[in-house]
Amino acid sequence: MVLLPDADATRALGRRLAGFLRAGDLVLVVGELGAGKTTFAQGVGEGLGVEGTIASPTFIIARVHRAPAGRPSLVHVDAYRLTSLAELDDLDLDESIGDAVTVVEWGEGLAEVLADSCLTVTLDRGRGADLGPEADARRGTVRGRGPRWDGVDLAPLLQSVDADS
Ligand SMILES: Nc1ncnc2c1ncn2[C@@H]1O[C@H](COP(=O)(O)OP(=O)(O)OP(=O)(O)O)[C@@H](O)[C@H]1O
Ligand SMILES: [Mg+2]
Repeated sequence: MVLLPDADATRALGRRLAGFLRAGDLVLVVGELGAGKTTFAQGVGEGLGVEGTIASPTFIIARVHRAPAGRPSLVHVDAYRLTSLAELDDLDLDESIGDAVTVVEWGEGLAEVLADSCLTVTLDRGRGADLGPEADARRGTVRGRGPRWDGVDLAPLLQSVDADS
């Protein structure tokens, strides 16, 4: 668990995670409305060095952000309106998720079928007073599942994040 005092800290966690990611990786970002999922995805995009602004898509379900040559693109998916990620195949993304890093908001329970391994990042505001009086504070946890993440030490990710890292 890592405490994320503000949005910059959440973005920094995404940047730091990007250093662990390679083509074919699937990252699910879980958290309630406004938890900071898109903010986190922005950090991943910064870390990967991709083009374009990673935004909360209102009507667009998935967007491909290109990286410099030789590095994986980022496929950013907002699955809020999807009932099945089979629909993702129908979107004709012009990018194979095997060649990209795919970050899915609202994908829990849907996205696991896309890959045999995934990393789940959970953002929450805590309950009660456990995060202190800071309205902005979030709690972040990261859990890897499947062979890709077996034996990968994610502890460095969870060292306290400051916005400069
Ligand atoms: N610690 C924090 N981490 C992330 N975002 C924060 C934090 N504190 C405040 N915020 C603010 O909360 C908002 C989070 O919005 P964001 O779009 O990232 O959330 P989301 O989980 O993607 O929302 P949605 O459920 O609509 O997709 C932003 O305005 C961000 O600046
Ligand atoms: Mg969002």
